[in-house]
Amino acid sequence: MKVLNFGSLNIDYVYPVDHIIIPGETEPAGDVMENCGGKGLNQSIALAKAGVKVYHAGLVGEEGQLLIDKCIENNVDTTYLRKIPGRSGHTIIQVDKNGQNSIILFGGSNRKFTKEYIDEVLSDFEKGDILVLQNEVNLLDHIIDEAYKKGMMIVLNPSPYDSSLEKCDLGKISLFLLNEIEGEQITGKKDPDEILEELVKKFPEAKIVLTLGSEGSIYRHKDEIYRQGIFKVKAVDTTAAGDTFTGYFISSIIDGLSVPEGLEMAAKASSITVTRPGATDSIPLRKEVVQ
Ligand code: RIB
Repeated sequence: MKVLNFGSLNIDYVYPVDHIIIPGETEPAGDVMENCGGKGLNQSIALAKAGVKVYHAGLVGEEGQLLIDKCIENNVDTTYLRKIPGRSGHTIIQVDKNGQNSIILFGGSNRKFTKEYIDEVLSDFEKGDILVLQNEVNLLDHIIDEAYKKGMMIVLNPSPYDSSLEKCDLGKISLFLLNEIEGEQITGKKDPDEILEELVKKFPEAKIVLTLGSEGSIYRHKDEIYRQGIFKVKAVDTTAAGDTFTGYFISSIIDGLSVPEGLEMAAKASSITVTRPGATDSIPLRKEVVQ
C-alpha cells in the first residue's frame, strides 16, 4: 500500500503583528520570515515525521527549489514533483501575539495542474493505495474521479472551502478531516453534532473527523462516535496545526491504531506544532509526540 499526497506547496511570508489588521489600518510588522508551507506540503511532512513513506505530487515555480529541498530534508519522496515556469504558490501570513493567524493565498504553480500530469502520476498507483488531498490545487474534481476509478482510498481535507469543491463528487471520499468552519460551509449547520449528523446523511459511507479548535475533535462513522480533547499549551503560532493533525491521524490508520489512539496522537502532535513558529518546521517528529 502506497501513500500519495497530491497537494500544494507554498512559500509562506510570515509577519508577526500585534493584532490581525482591520480594513483601512496600517500596522508595522516586527519581522518577516520566509518559511516552507502549504497545506499539502505540511501534511506530507507530518506523515513523513510520523514515519510514513509518502510521495508528494505537486508543482513548484522557478523560485521553488527550497520547497523541493524541504521535502528531501524530511524524507518526502519527490519523484512526482515538477518545477515549471512562473511563480510558486505563496502566502502572506499575519501572526498575532496570541498565535492566531490570517492568510492571503496566491495559488501560483499549485493551480497549473493539467489532466495529463495528474493521469501520469496516478498511473503509478493502484487499488488500496491512499490518496491525500486538500483544496489548494486546481482540477481536484479530476483527481478525485480518476483515483476513485482506480479504487484508491481518498482522504480529503476540504480546506480552504470554496465553490470549486461543489464540482467535486464528495461521495467518493472515504475520510474527511475538516474544521467546524468548513463543516458549516458544507452543511449549513453551526452546532458540531448537527454538522456531523448532516455529513453522515450526505456521505453515509465516509469516516469523518471534525476538529473544533480549543474544543478538541470528534470522529464519526455511521453511529460510531469518539471525542478527543486538546492538550493545553501556550500557542505561539497555530499555522499547520490542522495539517499536523491530518498527517498524524492518517499515519495512525496506516499503523493500525484504534480511532481513539489515533485521535489522541493527532491531538498531541498538533498541540506541539502550535508551540513553535512556522509551518513545516513546527511539526514534531513521532518520537517527540510519543514522549
Ligand atoms: O494550513 C497552513 C498552510 O495554509 C500554510 O502553510 C499556508 O501555506 C496555507 O496554505
